[in-house]
Amino acid sequence: MDRIENHRRNIASAAEFIKTRLARIPDIAVVLGSGLGPFASSLKNTETIPYTSIPGFSRSTAPGHSGLLIAGDAGSRRVLAMQGRFHCYEGYDVLDTILPVRVFRTLGISNLLLTNAAGGINPGFAEGALMLIRDHIGFLAPPALWGENLSEFGPRFPDMTRAYSNELSEIAVKASETVGVKLNEGVYVYAPGAQYETPAEIRAFKALGADAVGMSTVPEAVAGRHAGMRVLAISCITNMAAGITGRELNELEVLEVSKRVSDGFSRLMTEIIKNIPEERA
Ligand code: HPA
Repeated sequence: MDRIENHRRNIASAAEFIKTRLARIPDIAVVLGSGLGPFASSLKNTETIPYTSIPGFSRSTAPGHSGLLIAGDAGSRRVLAMQGRFHCYEGYDVLDTILPVRVFRTLGISNLLLTNAAGGINPGFAEGALMLIRDHIGFLAPPALWGENLSEFGPRFPDMTRAYSNELSEIAVKASETVGVKLNEGVYVYAPGAQYETPAEIRAFKALGADAVGMSTVPEAVAGRHAGMRVLAISCITNMAAGITGRELNELEVLEVSKRVSDGFSRLMTEIIKNIPEERA
């Protein structure tokens, strides 16, 4: 079957399945990155759907990605959280990695909150810092919108001047002040992985204007924006990027640091969610 037609069918079957499994569809979706899954344990009155049972969904194979879709209350608001996402480095086609975003849109969800673990390039950052993504550099990202345009979601050439919602970003800045969790701001650059970057690559990214580097988020943000969703993205700086401190990088440290900040991260996310205006797509 044609790649795009197959993608369309997968979106429709996944959305249909999720609708039958949840009492009510929230209007906020949260994608939890490496080691940030514990936010889902702060949710109340949860309904859980394993990815393996959702038609069209791939399997989560990355460390720290449980592969569960969890609906639950974050304070007074209900959210749909992905505990783990799909990456191209796992061998997936980019359409499989953005499928959940289009499923959320099909379900009527208008707010997309993306989170990830990332390497810090800005020397002002340190391990454990949080960074609000104000913009991204996707030169090395797989092209999420190549092929026939899915015009039911958005235009052929969507504008990316404001890929990340100003409105949601301002809510995040205020929320960080309210809960007393520092939120840095910067530009995220996509690196395909699965290897971490070389110091020369990091110097190049720095010269391009990047503050943090990671292996996800850009395709999902592009798909969300294409579909007219409000997109917010936050990176947890789990390590300084290659060559900055001279220390070698490893995935255990990434998971350890993201777990360590997960308490502040969860409080920040809950406060952000509480302040998102309620509105159906
Ligand atoms: N590079 C790319 N992805 C990452 C990093 C990094 O240094 N840390 C966590 N995810």
